[in-house]
This record gives sequence, C-alpha cells and structure tokens, in this order.
Amino acid sequence: MNPFRPGAGLEPRYIAGRENEYQVFERLIKSAPEIPGNLIISGLRGTGKTVLLNNLKGICDDYNWIHISREYNERFSNEAEFSQAVATDILTKIKGLSIAFDLKEIGGRFFEVIRDSSFTYKDFSVKLGKMSEKQLLEDYFLELLNESAQIIKSADIGGVVFLYDEFHTIVDQKSKRQFPLSSFIGALSQAQRDGAPFVLVATGLPQIQTNFIKAKSYSERMFRVVKLANLSAEETKKAFSETLKESKISFDNKLIDYLVENTGGYPYFIQFYGYFILENIPKENITLDDVKEIEPLLLQELDASFFDARYNKASDSEKIVLHTIANLADEADYSDIRKALKYSHETLVKMVSRLEEKGLLFRPSRGRFRFTVPLFNNYLIRKDKQ
Ligand SMILES: Nc1ncnc2c1ncn2[C@@H]1O[C@H](COP(=O)(O)OP(=O)(O)OP(=O)(O)O)[C@@H](O)[C@H]1O
Ligand SMILES: [Mg+2]
Repeated sequence: MNPFRPGAGLEPRYIAGRENEYQVFERLIKSAPEIPGNLIISGLRGTGKTVLLNNLKGICDDYNWIHISREYNERFSNEAEFSQAVATDILTKIKGLSIAFDLKEIGGRFFEVIRDSSFTYKDFSVKLGKMSEKQLLEDYFLELLNESAQIIKSADIGGVVFLYDEFHTIVDQKSKRQFPLSSFIGALSQAQRDGAPFVLVATGLPQIQTNFIKAKSYSERMFRVVKLANLSAEETKKAFSETLKESKISFDNKLIDYLVENTGGYPYFIQFYGYFILENIPKENITLDDVKEIEPLLLQELDASFFDARYNKASDSEKIVLHTIANLADEADYSDIRKALKYSHETLVKMVSRLEEKGLLFRPSRGRFRFTVPLFNNYLIRKDKQ
C-alpha cells in the first residue's frame, strides 16, 4: 500500500516537525487553569493544521483533559447556529461526565441553568432569535462555561479543551447584529479569570488573527499565535525517508534534494509527490532520473488536481492580476502590482478584494498581497510558458 497520504486532514504516516507547536500546547495545559492561555494556529491551506489539531488530543489525554472537536464553516457565523453548536458539544460531554462520575445532583442543576437560559434543545435557535443584544449571548456563554466548570471540577478531570478547526469562518457581523466571536471570546476570558478550566485552540487561515483582534482587542493577550509554515529542509527530508522506512522502497539522495526544492516543504505536496512517484515508478530504488522522466506527467496531475480549480475561480481580468503578482514574486506590494498593471486604483482595489474573497490572495501585512496557496507562483509561471 502507498504510505503517502495526500488529502485533507489525512493523518500522515510520519508527522514531520511541529515539535515546537506540541510544546507550546503542552505548556498551556500544564499551567491552566491557574495561568489561563489559549492558542491560535494559523496557516495556509494544506499546511497541516487539521493534522496538528487532531494530534493535540493525545496530549489532552496525557493530562486527563477532555476535548471537544468541531470543524466550523460560514453557516455557523450567526449567533443561533454558533451557540447551539458550542452548547450541544459541551452538553454532550457534561452528560457523559455526570453519568460516568455519578454527578446526578450537580448535573441536574447544570441542566436547570441551561433551561433557565432558554436552552431547550429542539427550539433553541427560535429562542435565541429573540436575543438581539450581544450582551445576552456573552452572558449565556459565561453561565454555560461557569456551570460546566463546576461539574468538571467535581469529576476527576483537568478541564476541557476546545479544538476548533476552520475557525476563521466565525466572524462578527455588525451590520447583521451578529457577534458570535466576541461573545465567545468575552465569556471565555471571564470564565478563565474565574478559574474555569477551559483552553481554546482555534485553527484557521491567516485572517483568523485579525478576526480575533477585531472582535476583542484584548484577545491578543489571551492567545498564543502559532503560524504553521512549510517544513524545513531537514524536516522535509525526514518526511520522505521516515515515511518510506517500513516499505522496501528508497529514494536516492539527489531525488530527496529535488523533492525538498520542489515541494518547498509544503506538507500537502510532500504527500502528493511521494504518492505520485510510488504509483508511477514501480521500482525499489528510485532515482532522480526516474522522476525526471515522469515529471511532465506529475506536474500535469498536480496542476489538474490542485491548482487549476483554484485558478479558475478567478475571472479573466483577475487572472491577469495573479500572473502579474507571480512575476513579481509570491508576494507583492500593492503599489508594485499597480505599476505593473496600470489599472485605476478603484479597479485594482476591487479586483484584489474579489481575489481575497475567492480565497486566492491574502494580506500578510498592510498593502501587501500574497498567494494563499504555496508555490502558486511557480504554477502561474508554468502557465505563462504554455
Ligand atoms: N507534519 C506533517 N508531516 C507530513 N505530512 C503532513 C504534516 N502535516 C500535514 N501533512 C499532510 O499534509 C496534507 C494537508 O494536511 P491538513 O489537511 O492537516 O492541512 P490543513 O492546514 O488542515 O489544510 P486546510 O487548510 O485545507 O484544511 C495531508 O495530506 C497531511 O497528511
Ligand atoms: Mg484543515
């Protein structure tokens, strides 16, 4: 069986690097709840956020903390859906605890509190619809957290970790009077100050950090931010050699160097290249020359399965903007893009924000634009040459 696993959230056979990220999390758990702390894991698509998040579960288990996992999407970015998701998850865990630890009395009180705050499971969203004030949802969350903290403390466990994936999709929308994010952060912060044993780990695309700061400016002090980047050359080499270890197949050194260079240490590409090579070269000792022979096929497949769909989200004129950036570098100043293109300021601003909405560009800093997908610039340059 092919040991490489290109995909979304697929556990790789060997997880390269990320020791620092595990350590940061472990330290948080060790210090909580006395010194509360939370974690934002931000990174581009395919950098390994979901895999990392899943692997934090093991650390939770080691320290006897329970974990609540959920993958969010835009649908949850309103108060009703979001609070229902959060409450349902907590409720499910607490129910399990009160049964396991025979905490009927405390458990009963908890469910009373939930009912009093108008939580009856089925018509929950209906009742929350009446909550037009941000304060109300924040209060609701605070009560939910504090009451469940009581049960957690009575049960013999350390606390609860929220492992929230794709959390950049949860944003406040002032115009719609929807404040799911600030309500949750606000309540969490207060509950943690009161000693409630919760830790939030939220992963998402790079805008997640800005979302949090916009929602509550003090969230900067509540969260450690870990930016998941591509793996280093050493880690990338290990990703290949360790993954191959239990198979009879080996890559020669020149090939490994080529892979370090051509995958850029991007986790998804490591799995993709490894998988494709093994599928298409039925040999035990694979060399760089073997791979060079199938390179056109490999790039074709990579473009078709990975890049094309992303590229085709852009309109024809937006594509011109993308090619311009690729020819500057994989990141460019707005002013340089404008110079190269000679569009009016208004037109270009519209185009780049549409490209941001389509998830193709983001702003790593003010006035700069970068591709959300690693090595997208190489792809665009390949296309230029076709
Ligand atoms: N540390 C690692 N070492 C080797 N391979 C990895 C590592 N982390 C992730 N991968 C591989 O990279 C690919 C992408 O991982 P994952 O789905 O976790 O990324 P992601 O950041 O969650 O992506 P997305 O933003 O699209 O959800 C998977 O095929 C996974 O097996
Ligand atoms: Mg993911």
